[in-house]
Amino acid sequence: MHKDVKEILFSEEQLKERVAQIAAQIDRDYAGKELMLVSVLRGSFIFMADLVRAITVPCKVDFMAVSSYGSGTVSSGQVQITKDLSEDITGRHLLVVEDILDSGNTLSYLLEVLRARKPASIRLCTLLDKPERRVKPVHLDYTGFTIPDAFVVGYGLDYDEYYRNLPYIGVLRPSVYGGEE
Ligand code: IMP
Ligand code: MG
Repeated sequence: MHKDVKEILFSEEQLKERVAQIAAQIDRDYAGKELMLVSVLRGSFIFMADLVRAITVPCKVDFMAVSSYGSGTVSSGQVQITKDLSEDITGRHLLVVEDILDSGNTLSYLLEVLRARKPASIRLCTLLDKPERRVKPVHLDYTGFTIPDAFVVGYGLDYDEYYRNLPYIGVLRPSVYGGEE
């Protein structure tokens, strides 16, 4: 385990198993349809890569990047699109893939932007849900795991851009960001 990680919440095996279950559900729900997966960078890149390889319905992928955090652990509430989609999404079935839903600021803003482009449908898939700090209500269609209010890293999730490469999801030691142990 990495020295800055206090506790492992989900191991590689647990993540793999859950991703397979979500993909199977998506396959059932989108049978006969064509799907467009929209990954919200950067946190969801690993989840997206694993999820798309477990999905068997025909699908396209596209990427969007937003910033709302800076280098802290609490979202600023001000969301900016730093990279937009490459494809036109009008009339398409969109599945937005996120790493974690926390305050809900990022996704509620993103959904508003995407809905205005008139896709045929939009659903949300997040690997992690941290409901305790929700400020804006967001309806989730697919959730990997619900977690308590702790700052987690690994499997794509970062603190100050580090730790994304950890193969598991772990709780970051609060001393790393100047909090109480
Ligand atoms: P929200 O706008 O507060 O819902 O924040 C969503 C974004 O904040 C996520 O997409 C993550 O990039 C980031 N985030 C929230 N909680 C964590 C965490 O515990 N670890 C790493 N990133 C997080
Ligand atoms: Mg994110």
